[in-house]
Amino acid sequence: MTKSVATTQSTWVNFPQFLLPSILCIVVFGVILWTYSPKFTSINFHKQQLCVTPEKYHSAAKTVVAQNEDQNETIILIWFWIFGEHFDLQSCSSLFGIEGCHITADRKLYSVAHGVLIHHRDIRMDLSNLPQEPRPSFQKWVWMNFESPSNTPRIVGIKDLFNVTMNYRKDANIPVHESLVLTEKPEPFQIPQKSLLVCWIVSNWNPEHERVKYYNKLKDYIHIEVFGRPFNKPLNNTEYRTTMSSCKFYLSFENSMHTDYITEKLYKPLMLGTVPVVLGPLRKDYEKIIPRGAFIHVQDFSSAKDLADRLHALDHNKEEYESYFTWRKNFKVKGVNFPMEHVCRACDYIRKHHKDYESFPDLTSWYWD
Ligand SMILES: *[C@@H]1O[C@H](CO)[C@@H](O)[C@H](O)[C@H]1NC(C)=O
Ligand SMILES: *[C@@H]1O[C@H](CO)[C@@H](O)[C@H](O)[C@H]1NC(C)=O
Ligand SMILES: *[C@@H]1O[C@H](CO)[C@@H](O)[C@H](O)[C@H]1NC(C)=O
Repeated sequence: MTKSVATTQSTWVNFPQFLLPSILCIVVFGVILWTYSPKFTSINFHKQQLCVTPEKYHSAAKTVVAQNEDQNETIILIWFWIFGEHFDLQSCSSLFGIEGCHITADRKLYSVAHGVLIHHRDIRMDLSNLPQEPRPSFQKWVWMNFESPSNTPRIVGIKDLFNVTMNYRKDANIPVHESLVLTEKPEPFQIPQKSLLVCWIVSNWNPEHERVKYYNKLKDYIHIEVFGRPFNKPLNNTEYRTTMSSCKFYLSFENSMHTDYITEKLYKPLMLGTVPVVLGPLRKDYEKIIPRGAFIHVQDFSSAKDLADRLHALDHNKEEYESYFTWRKNFKVKGVNFPMEHVCRACDYIRKHHKDYESFPDLTSWYWD
């Protein structure tokens, strides 16, 4: 008896608290409906064009499609945060002058996305992590990967899932890598002060790697200053730059050897005023992207001792050493702004090819075999 009275009382006490938000909600919803109603009509038209059933649209998707009716934007959905790390979604227009992109990480927009960017590593060997809903007819999946085949796990079942590839390889649909670009006018360049002869900064030490085997031979003939976690000498970003600049030569040794697999291990020393000694693909691969006089290739020498002799000789020949920097008069290193640049380049590509059917029927043999 007492209990029922208490319940009734509390209901009465709570009633106005429920009422106010409800009324507010109805009013706000009414305003939204009224504001967007003309645009809903055009969504229907758009939907017919895209051959997607209207029921599939989530309300978030509706809003975006409505906005796009005016702006003609290409919607790119980042399916996974790259390496699981969140980043600020910035404007492709202000960063790279790429217009007309709507970048999102909101999976609710799957049904309206023109492109879905999928980072290989984040699939984590489990295909159920990929979108499970049917792919809209206009949508392209972009396979994004920047590790070499040796360091990229093969996933059974991804052979013919993707439409477009994004990779360091020049024959990818969307190749992304650093490069040398012409300077507008000759820029003054001063070779940084040098205090070390040969340096190597390494984070992933594996005795099976070709680069470790070569290092072990080279160090018998020339002193190599080594840094990084495996040597208990980790460097933060600032130290990395100052250390790199203070070395005459830097061992730009890639972790594995594959065509076009030339990474920031080459471009960082070039940028910071050091002469790279490269181990990776063939000299002719390097010469496609940087002048032949800008680097030293281990394959130019029949033995590690010969290489060491050459480095010692250059150490004592100022003029010849400085000639490795002549490219600086006309070119500079253009870095890559990871990962926003990749996202925006994907948008640019999808936008330019939005009318084309594209599919990548055998990713597995293209990349691994
Ligand atoms: C929308 O953008 C695409 C790609 O840039 C272009 O081909 C198309 O003509 C544009 N459509 C309108 C209505 O502006
Ligand atoms: C990097 O390390 C140096 C020396 O340990 C320290 O003085 C500096 O503040 C560090 N810089 C950053 C950006 O963490
Ligand atoms: C994307 O690729 C898939 C798989 O090959 C294919 O079924 C689909 O039609 C392609 N879509 C476009 C827009 O090219």
